[in-house]
Amino acid sequence: MKSIIEVKDLRGKYVLLRSSLNEPVQEGEVLSKFRLLRSLPTLRYLHEQGAKVLLTAHIGRKPEETLKPIFEEMNKHLPVQWGGLITGSEWSERRGLMGEGDILMAENIRQDPREKANAPDFVAHLAAQADLYVNDAFAAAHRKQASTYGIASELPAYAGLTLIEEVQELKKVMEPKSPSLFFLGGAKFDTKMPLVEKYIGLYDKVFIGGALANDLFKARGLEVGESLVADEPLKDVPFLHSEKLLLPIDVIVDGGEDGRTVKSPEQVKPDEKILDAGPMTIDLLATYIEKAKTILWNGPFGAYEMGYTQATEITARHVAVSEAHTVIGGGDTVAAVDKLQINDLFSFVSTGGGATLDFLENGTTPVIERLSERE
Ligand code: 3PG
Repeated sequence: MKSIIEVKDLRGKYVLLRSSLNEPVQEGEVLSKFRLLRSLPTLRYLHEQGAKVLLTAHIGRKPEETLKPIFEEMNKHLPVQWGGLITGSEWSERRGLMGEGDILMAENIRQDPREKANAPDFVAHLAAQADLYVNDAFAAAHRKQASTYGIASELPAYAGLTLIEEVQELKKVMEPKSPSLFFLGGAKFDTKMPLVEKYIGLYDKVFIGGALANDLFKARGLEVGESLVADEPLKDVPFLHSEKLLLPIDVIVDGGEDGRTVKSPEQVKPDEKILDAGPMTIDLLATYIEKAKTILWNGPFGAYEMGYTQATEITARHVAVSEAHTVIGGGDTVAAVDKLQINDLFSFVSTGGGATLDFLENGTTPVIERLSERE
């Protein structure tokens, strides 16, 4: 990909910037500023170079969601004007009045259904706004949409500073230094199976926690009771008995007559539910963390949203103070670390969720491919 730094003269040029600002917002309050803060270096660079920056992004999953709270938060860091919908009259009026270094922010780009559909007329509308396109939205780099993908073929297209950094950092962990540890949690084994297969090959040890571990316990013929498992039981798991695979050696269960208790995975009863990895597992992981040179982590180890946060939080603290090269990604893992305010202790924190998994599996994503083709 060509970096935005390579453009010789940005002064007075209209730059359509796609950033990643998908932050949790509750009743107008921006609950995490992690992605917003990571979008600032490229914005500041374009602003200082005198470009006329047209800032686009999406938020949430419902099309009616608004970027207004993010806009207000953004203004605490640098001056941004509100342009409303990118197809509106307010937008074209304000766009026409822009001076060098101004930043005009558009409303949630997904309010227009043509964004997700990558509709040619919407792509053409976006392209008509600017002289150059800059993509800095790593978290949406797996989405073939108008402002992330379609537009990259219509204008001279460049990668923003954060997107470049993401690619460099994630490539590094695809060639880990030994001893290497890969932690994978969360759910949805069907989508993560190829990733596990790949990292069992690449890393010295792969620990699987969260609901993913339940699927593997089940595949090994153990009782998992009422635990969360994939709809389709796993079949023919090539790494099921691999020496590289680590699973929780004790689990926290609830729901049965013993109530909330810690036991070995072999002792789970039909009316119980596995909710987190137990203290012996945390200690075991700590011994591996101590010796590791590379640690890559995606996905929490327990039913995090239900308050089963212990295995994830204690392990996060151990990883944070380890001397290894430490990289974490995935919305839930990053939110957990953000809550503990230990982000700065990791070598790199990826802004992506699905995009990070996609990149780690394939070494690229559709958007990165397209930006690379533009060289
Ligand atoms: C994310 O939050 O992971 C990205 O912004 C992508 O959002 P999406 O899954 O709604 O496309």
